[in-house]
Amino acid sequence: MTSQDTEDLSGRRRKPEIDIREMEIEDLAAVFQLGEKLFRASEVPILYRSWEEFEVLDSFVRDMGYAYVADLDGEIVGFALGSVVTKRKSAWKYGYLAWLGVKPEFQRFGIATRLFREMRDTMLEDGVRIVFIDTEADNVEALKFFARMGFGKPEEHLYLSLNVDDELRKTRIKNGNGRHKKNGRD
Ligand SMILES: CC(C)(COP(=O)(O)OP(=O)(O)OC[C@H]1O[C@@H](n2cnc3c(N)ncnc32)[C@H](O)[C@@H]1OP(=O)(O)O)[C@@H](O)C(=O)NCCC(=O)NCCS
Repeated sequence: MTSQDTEDLSGRRRKPEIDIREMEIEDLAAVFQLGEKLFRASEVPILYRSWEEFEVLDSFVRDMGYAYVADLDGEIVGFALGSVVTKRKSAWKYGYLAWLGVKPEFQRFGIATRLFREMRDTMLEDGVRIVFIDTEADNVEALKFFARMGFGKPEEHLYLSLNVDDELRKTRIKNGNGRHKKNGRD
């Protein structure tokens, strides 16, 4: 079965036989490319994290990284990348599911559910008791998915921005156009 082949002769969607397994080094490029389609397409407006090669690599190499893929006869059709966060002065370990994606033609087959459960169960074995996710407020599909997985209590978080270049220019004008020197740097 390939991604071209998810319907039977009567047009019904056939559930593909997917293997959920840990990500391997050979999967890095495929995961990155799938993420490019999923996350670049939606132009995720979150600045503090954006989809790039490092995101995939980091989940793979870091000690407390968690990386799973959905494999259909060698084709990567989904992935879940996460990590465990520990806080100073807290005995708690927090799981963070950073990226979860399924190829569009394979969505609604329960693949993300399986990826999520695999990661959650491993995190649980590793001492995690709370798992966090974040997503844009208008990503309705993802919000429905996470609600279905049992996530609740959404907290609103606002991002504010300051154009520091403008600020610097204003300061320079105020100081008579003199360039501001700090620590010997221009
Ligand atoms: C969110 C996403 C990962 C879900 O993947 P999926 O494999 O289709 O999810 P599942 O099939 O396991 O869905 C489980 C349940 O979640 C809910 N759900 C999932 N996608 C949904 C959608 N588009 N609309 C409404 N509910 C949805 C449903 O309750 C579904 O159960 P059902 O199909 O029996 O009704 C997928 O839509 C995706 O890759 N989106 C783009 C990337 C993204 O936004 N990722 C999340 C933030 S990192």
